[in-house]
Amino acid sequence: MRKFLGVATMLCAAVLAGCSGGGDGAGGAAGEGAITVGFSQVGAESEWRTANTRSVKEALAAPEFNLKFSDAQQKQENQIKALRSFIAQGVDVIAFSPVVETGWDTVLREAKAAGIPVLLTDRAVNVADESLYATLIGSDFVEEGRRAARWLVEDRAGKDGPVRIVELQGTVGSAPANDRMKGFKEVIDTDARFQIVRSQSGDFTRARGKEVMEAFLKAEGRNIDVLFAHNDDMAIGAIQAIEEAGLKPGTDIRIVSIDGVRGAFEAMKAGKLNATVECNPLLGEQLAQLIRDVHAGREVPRRVQVEEGVFTQDQAEAELPNRKY
Ligand code: AHR
Repeated sequence: MRKFLGVATMLCAAVLAGCSGGGDGAGGAAGEGAITVGFSQVGAESEWRTANTRSVKEALAAPEFNLKFSDAQQKQENQIKALRSFIAQGVDVIAFSPVVETGWDTVLREAKAAGIPVLLTDRAVNVADESLYATLIGSDFVEEGRRAARWLVEDRAGKDGPVRIVELQGTVGSAPANDRMKGFKEVIDTDARFQIVRSQSGDFTRARGKEVMEAFLKAEGRNIDVLFAHNDDMAIGAIQAIEEAGLKPGTDIRIVSIDGVRGAFEAMKAGKLNATVECNPLLGEQLAQLIRDVHAGREVPRRVQVEEGVFTQDQAEAELPNRKY
């Protein structure tokens, strides 16, 4: 009896740990023999993330799945707690979008020891043993950074003189922040005119994007030619800061960002944002298929990438009605 109570207490604690991270245990009415999936999401920091959550929840609402969803509120410790809770509950598959790249080896080894396959969505991890996860579905963030820089190089074609850039980085230590910075620098470093004069994290949120841009404007005054924001939300926050400083976003300061969310298209249509590099959040259906395959013991590719484009102001009005997120 004592042993039974001990196990029951452990299970309750594990379930509570998942919920305390902001989890809502969402899912449709699971059918008999459904695949139980524990999904740990980064948070709700951006329009992109909201669309991604919707896509995952919709795809995993089918009766063949029993979804346990947990929101980490952008904290790795919450995400580790959620993964441990999924392991304790004995889910069939774990999927998660890691807040940051490092610090996952231990918990992923625990999942492996429990025989639970792990799928990564959206963001990569940096682990010594790659067999700790089955696959990664998501964008090529390095290429997104390169695309933003290529747009800038083209935008500056035929114009002389130095180009002073400020950079709003994503969450420190996250795969998209590390990779977008890398790809962007790789391209601009080939031309000495381009200099990044300030660079700071805005944690992928509008509020932080605005605050950090205010600090950039205070420090640099009118000597900023370009803003490169690692996501649209930070660019939209920064646009507000630029307007409040009496400058015209998109004209006085050229702006390129990443994601391609509806808000960015509206800003482009209004002439306030110059270009957005697409990062597709609608991964739900492909993730559902990978979960079926992994659960059935079928082989899956190590890396599944999504097709994406680049959009500029002149395309915004025509494209806006077609945007799905
Ligand atoms: O990992 C994808 C990034 O995370 C998106 O670009 C950003 O908007 C989100 O918060």
